[in-house]
Amino acid sequence: MKTFVWVFASTIGLSSPIVATAAPGAAAAALYGSVCSACHGSIFAGGSRGPALKGPSFVAHWKGKSAYDLYSLILLTMPSDNPGIVNEKEAVGLVEEIFKQNGLKGSLKHVKSAEDLKSIPIPK
Ligand code: HEC
Repeated sequence: MKTFVWVFASTIGLSSPIVATAAPGAAAAALYGSVCSACHGSIFAGGSRGPALKGPSFVAHWKGKSAYDLYSLILLTMPSDNPGIVNEKEAVGLVEEIFKQNGLKGSLKHVKSAEDLKSIPIPK
């Protein structure tokens, strides 16, 4: 059991430096692919274990909330089987990625930190 836990932890440890040194957009896409796509699908369209993160019903669900609400949900509750593994910077990147997938990316042009997300409504 000890060995298993160690191997598991070092696998996770190995993947984070790679994510951290890549360009922000690429890092978020890579993180999505390695962690989120298992449930939300490789093209954000949803799967048997998680809802779609793009499309009219997703946007309608989030309309009127802020990008920060989306950020908080990801930071605090995702991945649902292991919440807490996504750090703040990564969560901002994932919000950007979800905005991009939904054609909303323009609104995030000046985002430097999670605080900036508070003033960004989810449009449409
Ligand atoms: C083990 C499966 C699983 C993984 C992995 C996972 N999610 Fe989820 N996610 C879910 C489920 C299930 C829900 C729906 C929860 C609910 O409705 O209460 C959800 C909901 C969401 C929502 C809200 C969707 C909506 O329409 O309100 C977002 C955003 C989200 N996940 C993002 C992510 C991101 C980003 C990652 C990767 C860091 C991730 N999830 C990883 C299962 C998962």
